[in-house]
Amino acid sequence: NMRIPFIAGNWKMNLSVAESVEFLSAISGKLPVADQSQTAIAASPLFLQTMLEHNDDSPLIIAAENCFYEDEGAYTGETSPKALHEMGITHVILGHSERRKYFNETDDIINKKVHAVFRNQMIPIICCDETMGRRESSERISWVVSQVTAALKGISIEDARNAIIAYEPSWAIGSGQTASSEEAEEGCYLIRQTIADIYSDEVANEVRVLYGGSVNDDNANEILSQNDIDGVLAGGASLKPESFLKLANFQQ
Ligand code: G3H
Repeated sequence: NMRIPFIAGNWKMNLSVAESVEFLSAISGKLPVADQSQTAIAASPLFLQTMLEHNDDSPLIIAAENCFYEDEGAYTGETSPKALHEMGITHVILGHSERRKYFNETDDIINKKVHAVFRNQMIPIICCDETMGRRESSERISWVVSQVTAALKGISIEDARNAIIAYEPSWAIGSGQTASSEEAEEGCYLIRQTIADIYSDEVANEVRVLYGGSVNDDNANEILSQNDIDGVLAGGASLKPESFLKLANFQQ
């Protein structure tokens, strides 16, 4: 497969603007070149402008953790995808399980956001979760399939091939309980098959599928060696420059 690995960190609601600048200077010059492996950090919209200004010639992609589905209007407190694009943001995480859980984001809302991100020439990193209950029941497959199908509803084949999808079993997030590499591969394979069913094998071969959930520098190599896993979405392990660098340089 010709897919370029995508190693992403999601800071969630952590660190400060000053710490984000320190982080960027600590990793400066130490990331792989972008045609070997893409690296990204998603941060709060409060940090993005400063981070972009301090990112100079670095290959690091500065991403947003969320955005709204309308470009502008009377939506107090929301983040405009149009404004993100204008400031130079290229990637946006959408549908993270914490958004689904604490902010009641539904498949329908997430689908509207996926449209908004593509409309504004950015790339969505679409998260697909899976709860313990579902993992242990036969509902697992239909749950993963239905989330991916709903998120991509009405998305053209040209856009879909650029999408990045993250498989994040909720029980593995922030729990220290990583999915086994087989379980992670199974989830990512299922996502790729779903893309093949909706679009084509060709598109499924291009879409990058990431695993997220307690990824750290001990388990990353094994996870990344799986066929259908093209990268990781790390929370906790992305907060410290040293551990993010280990993930980012996994193959070197
Ligand atoms: O987006 C990242 C995931 O929620 C994983 O978080 O690595 O802290 O478990 P974690």
